Amino acid sequence: MNENKIDTLHGIQEDEQIKVVFVFPDGSEKECEANIGETLLNVIRNNDIPIPCSCGGALACSTCHVVLDEKSFNILESDDKSASEDEEDLLEVASGLEDTSRLGCQVILTEELNGMRVQIPR
Ligand code: FES
Repeated sequence: MNENKIDTLHGIQEDEQIKVVFVFPDGSEKECEANIGETLLNVIRNNDIPIPCSCGGALACSTCHVVLDEKSFNILESDDKSASEDEEDLLEVASGLEDTSRLGCQVILTEELNGMRVQIPR
């Protein structure tokens, strides 16, 4: 028998989900469930996080800019999932750029990112 718990609403195994915490400019937080393998852009949209993501993930804007916690940023770096040259170019024009800035549409969630904290820039 499969002992994994199933999210009966969505038919998704709970062990395929991670938690992502969005931190708003005023310091308030929203904890969200996210599926491993989906992009941060999906999580932003599915949870009504107020980030425009204007190009829908086509890597043609920088409106999905977010600042990751250092641990999560480093996990992506060491996992060979660092920002591409195109992402770096777009990040250069994003406001509130930090060392751990990424474009939400380019971050694919993995199990190791469970608990990641995502700061929404001002
Ligand atoms: S949504 Fe446009 S670059 Fe991410």
